[in-house]
This record gives sequence, structure tokens and C-alpha cells, in this order.
Amino acid sequence: MTKSGSAVKVLFVTTELAPFSKVGGLGDVAGSLPKALRQAGVDVRVVTPAWPGVLERVAASGVKTTTIKTKVYAAYDWRIHSATVIKADVKGVPTYFLNAEDYSGDMYPSQLNYWTASPFAVFCMQALELKDAIEWEPDIYHCHDWTSAFLPCALAWHRHYRQRGDKSIMTLHNVAYQGIFEPSPFLEASGLEPWSFSSSTMEFYGQVNLLKGGIVAATAVSTVSPTYANEIQTYESTRELSGILYQQRSKLRGILNGLDTKFWDPAGDKAIPAKFTVKDLKGKAACKKELLARAGFDTETNAPVIVCVSRLVEQKGFDMVFNAAHQIAETGAKLLILGSGNDWIENGIMKAAEENPGSIKLFKGYDEPLSHLMYAGGDIFLMPSVFEPCGLSQMISMRYGTVPVVREVGGLRDTVFDVDRPEGGNGFTFLTCDSDGMMWALRRAVERYNNDKAAWKNIMLEGMKEDFTWNKSAGLYKQMYEEINS
Ligand code: ADP
Ligand code: GLC
Repeated sequence: MTKSGSAVKVLFVTTELAPFSKVGGLGDVAGSLPKALRQAGVDVRVVTPAWPGVLERVAASGVKTTTIKTKVYAAYDWRIHSATVIKADVKGVPTYFLNAEDYSGDMYPSQLNYWTASPFAVFCMQALELKDAIEWEPDIYHCHDWTSAFLPCALAWHRHYRQRGDKSIMTLHNVAYQGIFEPSPFLEASGLEPWSFSSSTMEFYGQVNLLKGGIVAATAVSTVSPTYANEIQTYESTRELSGILYQQRSKLRGILNGLDTKFWDPAGDKAIPAKFTVKDLKGKAACKKELLARAGFDTETNAPVIVCVSRLVEQKGFDMVFNAAHQIAETGAKLLILGSGNDWIENGIMKAAEENPGSIKLFKGYDEPLSHLMYAGGDIFLMPSVFEPCGLSQMISMRYGTVPVVREVGGLRDTVFDVDRPEGGNGFTFLTCDSDGMMWALRRAVERYNNDKAAWKNIMLEGMKEDFTWNKSAGLYKQMYEEINS
């Protein structure tokens, strides 16, 4: 509540929004947390760029849109950048898509420099200008990752916006991506005061670091799990940025992500061939059969099916997987991986699949329906992340009765608990960041699956019964909003 007793008004500023634009978990969070926040009594609205294909996907989903009469304008690089504002009601959340020339390229650039970073700065300034066009003024701007980190920087250091005294929150979904590039000609073009480029603000070893600027400038900072909130203050985790995070720790908190548990629900999922529930697991066998058929594997096998659904990037620890490919195949288990990303990881997995035909298979690409079949048809979900701010995949897999095997790091540590602890758990975990560590946990899982079906069913049920809703965390976000708004 605000001082006047009305709901606190929050504008969610995000460059990904599931199901219209999603690269990873940020898209899922932006597509589900606002709905939970509205249910908790926060007047939250969402603004996001209309990247290529987004408005088509909105139309295809049946969501109705209206074009707002007034455009938004932002001054950047001595030019006025305008955007048309398309309003939609997405599951009860007022959502504004900004349609402009600036967002006509790839969603995320492979190389960051002044030109490729500019659309993100423009987006933040257009978000700051939105209030007049929609006749609704937020109390707080809630930004996510480096792609909207320019907004807190503008509120603190921009010649024009710093006069407004508005509040902002910076949520860190992944500190590995910081938005680092050459300062020239960005500083001139951006309208930031020249003194904003100092070691105590957004300067970082001679470069601009938007995330650093956002962290320093924001009124409050949060990240997506309590463990990651601690880890990022250490040099081992975030290198040069760890000192800044340590300095800023009094305004940093960790709030665990939740899931859209209606969307990720084996009892109602339209993308899987048979539904199942905690009380009736029968449908899961049909999903496994279909998945094995998709892989071209024997559908009658008794072997456990290990699945991975992931961006194929260094963070996710796939070198541990392909280095242990023969050992995994020797356990008798099948390994199915869905993902795309770095060539060296794709090549490593492809080689492992070629050397272990009938045991290992890579589905290359991003495929939402297939991801549902993987979660539903798998027995074991493997996620050996090197670091993991929160991780949603392990939670999704547990919803579908697929037992996670994960490294004890970040949000994985806050959500997966080893079954062999005295108090029991919902999965298998390991600490050492290498293939041996991973195989130690994976072998325990495969053996348990093969030799103790009753124990295995209990582990599955333990995961399926976990509360992965946003309810608790939405309350914590609301508390943060109210604290900084008082
Ligand atoms: P991250 O955000 O680091 O990628 P998360 O576990 O938080 O990891 O979220 C990943 C999300 O992206 C999950 O919803 C997962 O199902 C989805 N995902 C990742 N890779 C793919 C893929 N190749 N095809 C479909 N969905 C994918
Ligand atoms: C990032 C992280 C992931 C987290 C997601 C949503 O992409 O890598 O761990 O779950 O953001 O917060």
C-alpha cells in the first residue's frame, strides 16, 4: 500500500516476456510473476519491446490489442526515437509492447558495442516516458538484468531524468551478462552526465558496465535465490563485480523464483500425449514412450531416461556431461538433450551422441512443445550447472515427476535436496564441479531407479508435491516495494 492506502504501482521493464519472447528463465519470470503480484494486490504493469515476431505471436495467442493514441519519444544520440504503444491484457496484466525501428533486429546481439547496445538504452528511456501516454504513473520501475539496467542509471545520472527522483529496483537474473562495451560515443549519445563514468558508478576497467551502473544507481537490488545473493559477493563467483555487490549488500536481497504452475502442469498440459497427477502417474509412461520414439530409441526399454532442457552455454556445465558420455552410456541409461547455444558445446554433445548411438541423442534447437515432452517423459533431469542464479528447469522437472540430479550451487541448492540426507529429499546433488562429482550423483540416481521402484516413486512424489507457486515470493516482492516506497 502507498501512504494514501492505494496499491503500490510498479512498472516491470523487461526485454523478455513468455510466451511471446523468451530466451531463458527471465522470460518465464516476466510472464508469470506480474500475475502473482496483481493477485497479491500490487498494481503492476509490464513494458517490453515488440521484437520481430512478437506482435504476430500475441495475435496468434488470441490476446486482443489496442494501439494507444499517443506515441512515446526518447532523445538519444541527437535524435528522437519514437515507438508506438500497443496495449494488451495478458492474463489480467496490462502489458505495453513498444513497436519501433529500434527493435527490428535480433533480440540479443552476439557482439556488444555502442550500436548494438543502443536499443536497450532507448527502450529504458521510452519506458520512462510511458507514463504520459498511458496516463498511469508508476511508483517504482522494476528492471531486470543488464538489458534494462540503463533505466536506474538514467534516473540517477541522466541530465533530464535525474530531476525526477523516481525509484527503481534492479533484479539480477544472471550476473554473468553485464552489458560491457566501449564508452565512446555512448556517453555523449546517452545524455548521462560525464561524471557518471567513474569507478564508483558505471565505469569498469575503462569500459561501460550497464549492470554495474544499474546496481549502484537502483534504490534496491534483488536476485533470484538466497544462495546466489551470497555467492555473487565472492570473487570466485563474480570476479571483478563482486566488490561492488559486497559494497551494495545492504540493499541486496535474494528472493526465490516461482513457476506458473498452471502452465507447467502435467494434469492439464496440452503439449504432452497423456496427462498425469500425483494420485495417478500412469500417463507418464505414455509420455516416456513417445519421447523415446521421437529420439528413435527402443520404446520398450526399462532403462531410465535422463533428460536435459537447456541453453547450451558454459554456465550449464555440459562439458562435464560430454566428457562422461561413455560412463553415462555404461550405466545403461538413455540421455536426451534439448538445447542450442555455443558451437563447442553442441559439437561436444554431437560427438558423444555419434560415439554412443542408441544411448545419447541431441535435439538441437529451441522447441517449446518438445521441452514439455522432455519434462514429462524423462525419469531423471540432469542439471550440472557451474553456477545457477535460480534455475527453473529443475523445478519444472519436479512438477512432472522427473527427479533432478543437480550441482549444489545457487538456486539449485535452495530447491533440490539430496534424498540421502538423514531428513530425506527430492533429488540427487553433488558439489565437486567435474565429471566425477556429477557421475557420483547420477550413478546413485540410476541405481535407485533400477533397484528400488518404491523408493523412486516416493522421490518423484516428493518433488511433485513441492510448492513452486509464486505465492510466497510475490509476498516478498510486495514487501520490498512497500519498504522502498514508504
Ligand atoms: P536459464 O534462464 O539460465 O536459461 P532457467 O532454468 O531459469 O535457465 O530457465 C530456462 C527456461 O528456458 C526453462 O523454461 C526451459 O524449459 C527453457 N528452455 C531452455 N532451453 C530450451 C530449449 N532448447 N527449448 C525449449 N525450452 C528451453
Ligand atoms: C537466468 C538464470 C536462471 C534463472 C533465470 C530467471 O537466466 O540463469 O538461473 O532461473 O534467469 O530468474
